[in-house]
Amino acid sequence: MARNKVTVIGAGNVGATTAQRIAEAALADVVLVDIVEGLPQGKGLDLAEAAPVVGHDAGVRGTNDYADTADSDIVVVTSGLARQPGMSRDDLLTKNAGIVRSVVEQAAKASPNAIIIVVTNPLDAMCHVAMDASGFPRERVIGMAGVLDSARFRTFIAQELGVSVEDTHAFVLGGHGDTMVPLSRYSTVAGVPITELLPADRVRALEERTANGGAEVVALLKTGSAFYAPAAGVFEMVESILLDRKRVLPCAVLLRGEFGVEEVFVGVPVILGAAGMERVFEIELTSDERVAFERSVDAVRELVAVLER
Ligand SMILES: NC(=O)c1ccc[n+]([C@@H]2O[C@H](COP(=O)([O-])OP(=O)(O)OC[C@H]3O[C@@H](n4cnc5c(N)ncnc54)[C@H](O)[C@@H]3O)[C@@H](O)[C@H]2O)c1
Repeated sequence: MARNKVTVIGAGNVGATTAQRIAEAALADVVLVDIVEGLPQGKGLDLAEAAPVVGHDAGVRGTNDYADTADSDIVVVTSGLARQPGMSRDDLLTKNAGIVRSVVEQAAKASPNAIIIVVTNPLDAMCHVAMDASGFPRERVIGMAGVLDSARFRTFIAQELGVSVEDTHAFVLGGHGDTMVPLSRYSTVAGVPITELLPADRVRALEERTANGGAEVVALLKTGSAFYAPAAGVFEMVESILLDRKRVLPCAVLLRGEFGVEEVFVGVPVILGAAGMERVFEIELTSDERVAFERSVDAVRELVAVLER
């Protein structure tokens, strides 16, 4: 039986690290694609040459040609530009929408049955572009952000309480970044809500640090943004799909009535399995949580409206 095949578009920091994680876990053969000639080929070759030492037989190669991506099971989209000095958020939105549309059209043609995982920012708006460009059903277009946001929250909770990250679970909803909605009453250590383990002001401080988690790393790095944890987030989603694990993970998906929202991509817990997004895992929200969630949904709607102008 052939190994699964995963295409990663964008051979930059997030894309190359994702390719490394997938190949080194021998989860799938990986094809790395970029618009820059030589870059994906060079990183692909370098990763392949690590295989004998790491001890896996997954194939890794780089290309500029979508023919090489044919019949992928999963396509991960990380291609895009970072915000440059002087560039407005709307400029970045329009530029990355153009990039995501072009790569998804080509990748979807080559792999009509693939599941697309979108990573490029602004995440939720780029999911709308990817769904439109692919023509795929909503089950097969999924955005990665919530896994990263909840991993950050888990890290900060575990550090605060001096406990293992493994016994720490966090629940986040909403858009990626500053409109994220951390649900602390469902965030637990060994099943105990953190609201019972920490004073309210500490819980709020951890929530705020999580919502600013991306900016905190950018401020330290000075150039570029986070990629180790984002790549780990993509890996967790790819693994749940390829191994049909049915993990319940926070992902950006197109809501069709769930949480009272219609036709907007936003982060909610979903079951990820062989069919992609198999079910939205719905929960009741308190009125405060609902207000924050709706603010997040409105922020996504505004970006999509800019794209439709
Ligand atoms: N969703 C999340 O949680 C999350 C987390 C981290 C990063 N991101 C986003 O992921 C994206 C990638 O981040 P990065 O740090 O890897 O950036 P990067 O600049 O290191 O890599 C981006 C790559 O995309 C390539 N590219 C540009 N246009 C292309 C095209 N038309 N076709 C193919 N490749 C093209 C570039 O050549 C570059 O190699 C950014 O939009 C970033 O904001 C999202």
